[in-house]
Amino acid sequence: SYHFFLLWLIFSYYSFPLDTTSEFSVRLYHQLQVAGGQDNIIFSPLSVAVALGMVELGARGASLAEIRQTLGFNHLLPGVEFSLLQNLTAAVSNDDAHCVIRFANSLFLQEGIAFNPEFLHLMRKYFRAQVETVDFSQSAAVAEQINSWVENQTESKIRELLSAEDFSSVTRLTLVNAIYFRGSWKNQFRPENTRTFSFSKDDGSEVQTLMMYQQGDFYYGEFSDGSQEAGGVYQVLEMPYEGEDMSMMIVLPRQEVPLASLEPIIKAPLLEEWANNVKRQKVEVYLPRFKVEQKIDLKSSLQGLGIKNIFTSDADLSAMTDGKDLYIEKAVQKAYLEVTEEGAEGAVGSGMIALTRTLVLYPQVMADHPFFFIIRNRRTASILFMGRVMTPEVIEPNDHDFDSI
Ligand SMILES: *[C@@H]1O[C@H](CO)[C@@H](O)[C@H](O)[C@H]1NC(C)=O
Ligand SMILES: *[C@@H]1O[C@H](CO)[C@@H](O)[C@H](O)[C@H]1NC(C)=O
Repeated sequence: SYHFFLLWLIFSYYSFPLDTTSEFSVRLYHQLQVAGGQDNIIFSPLSVAVALGMVELGARGASLAEIRQTLGFNHLLPGVEFSLLQNLTAAVSNDDAHCVIRFANSLFLQEGIAFNPEFLHLMRKYFRAQVETVDFSQSAAVAEQINSWVENQTESKIRELLSAEDFSSVTRLTLVNAIYFRGSWKNQFRPENTRTFSFSKDDGSEVQTLMMYQQGDFYYGEFSDGSQEAGGVYQVLEMPYEGEDMSMMIVLPRQEVPLASLEPIIKAPLLEEWANNVKRQKVEVYLPRFKVEQKIDLKSSLQGLGIKNIFTSDADLSAMTDGKDLYIEKAVQKAYLEVTEEGAEGAVGSGMIALTRTLVLYPQVMADHPFFFIIRNRRTASILFMGRVMTPEVIEPNDHDFDSI
């Protein structure tokens, strides 16, 4: 009935908090883009936000103010952001046959320094976070301990996050941040439709890649920024994962337009515009298999965005411990993403797919050149991953069991 529907609406509204950190996410992307040359990019904005929330919980004064300002929490009453982050991670976390999303956040503190009990209590309450003490002077042992913790939290996808050289006898505190995601496409690609295919990189060179293919119902739209700055019309394709909560959005410029022309126009409101304007329809999709992995020095990126104080000797982390000289020396994130047909191994078909543009019945998204992508939660608008593929999975000409077209 109508009343039931209304109740359901209200219930949905309250149960899915809206992520407000997309501005921060996009600014961080632009930082990485400027530093990234022609490389692939992958990072997890949500995971960085959660890690910074953990630090903010222990911060005061300028240390706290910079985090709130940069993450876009200033419009919230003080402290509400912790509840928001808690609700967001709860809404996004998942662990079933189709979809696994797991956060691994932890603070490692030098032995002999005690955390304030109230801080520990709030860390558990809001972040279910682990806080552990280690002896940083035993740098190799600490690196191993932290790495195996991360490895365990990420089904072994993230290895060697830190090395002994990352620590010194003056290290007091290390923030560790990792995230694991595994999802099945709602519409899976059939492995027998995968072919070797040329991918044109933005530097003009070509590599051979494994191109997946399917025709299916997706969310699709064509956009233009009007000014021609982005090279005119570009395509946005949203492909849901099983369960439809999570999806991958692929943003593809025209073939002759380098991704670097499109990147500057990417802004937080534009992400919303894409999400709100893609329409469900049949689309022909050519998407390369890809695997992207990146270790990011969050310290320099965050400093570039205005979070500076926590990394200096002026840091005020007095809500964390009573120690006066505590600051964050190191903050790294390592992210990994592998996109495949859906786990199915190397079965190969025999050239039945017509790769021709002459008889196009549906919009065709041909990702045979660099593209931007986002993996997001469609209910909370949280961005789990953001990145770009400049080079997909490259195959050597002589290791093909795959027929060239
Ligand atoms: C988080 O969820 C709880 C329980 O549903 C709710 O009381 C609280 O207001 C939410 N916080 C935010 C910031 O949305
Ligand atoms: C690995 O993680 C699981 C579940 O998160 C936990 O039960 C187990 O104790 C962990 N093992 C190690 C070696 O940390």
